[in-house]
Amino acid sequence: MHSFSKPNPTDWLISQNKYQSKKTSKKAKTISITAGKGGVGKTSVSVKMAKILSEMGYRVLLLDCDSNLSNTVVKLNLPITNYFYELVSGTRSIEDCLHYDGNLHLLAGCNGSLDLFKKTLEIDKLIIDIIATHEREYDYILLDCPAGIAKETLTLNAYSDYRFVVVTPDKSSVTDSYSLMKILNKEYGVTENHLLINKISSDAQYQRMVKTLSETVENFLKSRLNILGGIYKEEVPEDLFDRVLLRQEKNSLHKNFVNIVTRFAEENTQRIHESEFSKSQNINLNDFSL
Ligand SMILES: Nc1ncnc2c1ncn2[C@@H]1O[C@H](COP(=O)(O)OP(=O)(O)OP(=O)(O)O)[C@@H](O)[C@H]1O
Ligand SMILES: [Mg+2]
Repeated sequence: MHSFSKPNPTDWLISQNKYQSKKTSKKAKTISITAGKGGVGKTSVSVKMAKILSEMGYRVLLLDCDSNLSNTVVKLNLPITNYFYELVSGTRSIEDCLHYDGNLHLLAGCNGSLDLFKKTLEIDKLIIDIIATHEREYDYILLDCPAGIAKETLTLNAYSDYRFVVVTPDKSSVTDSYSLMKILNKEYGVTENHLLINKISSDAQYQRMVKTLSETVENFLKSRLNILGGIYKEEVPEDLFDRVLLRQEKNSLHKNFVNIVTRFAEENTQRIHESEFSKSQNINLNDFSL
């Protein structure tokens, strides 16, 4: 059973600002799927990417960080449970709380649980403890974050190896995500994010947004914005979108996502190789100086 009473590494990690340097390639890469604004597609992106990565053979843990308005199970058509409350109350082990779908393991939140609502929780510490305890069991840990710039969310974003900032062409979505990246940069020292533009209606619109956002982030925040790609707005009734999202056959939305995930996974593998190579170079240099 996962115990929340043992000494946790969180305070130390946060106080030392060791967000970037704590990971080795043997541990999962943690990705926050985040945005300043609600309804832009964070949960859709989280669920779809988790499914694709797991189908590619990676071991994936998806953590629903919207702890009492959990949407991941709703999207996946899984039963709603009170497991998250039982987990944080210490009455159910994490293994008994996960939904298992092949290589994909999902920890859902609750949905309007009064018990959870009444409980004082530090969700960021809780999630970081889960990551720290289980990161050797997975290749990727995905965090489906709630909208907005609550401190707990920003701590989780800063703690992650990667931040996928989801933006739509709506001007307030762009402004809110810029605000999120600004606070991450000024308060947490985050200098690199990934951008995913969702609900685009044309290539020209996508190119315009990439140019404006990249220039603004680079000039004003001195941060790097890696471009993941764009997802077209599906012209389907809103209640049918999830079915289209999770379908695979002859589906341009699926191909679009597969391309983005494949490119990212290759980039990540390349980074791991580069960091392992530079580590081995350092060891050789040290050997030489002895
Ligand atoms: N590419 C798309 N094309 C059409 N509709 C989309 C697309 N992506 C998401 N949607 C729709 O947008 C709505 C919001 O999606 P989703 O729940 O994934 O957003 P969210 O950012 O997680 O929202 P919240 O902030 O409430 O957690 C859903 O109704 C979904 O059907
Ligand atoms: Mg959501």
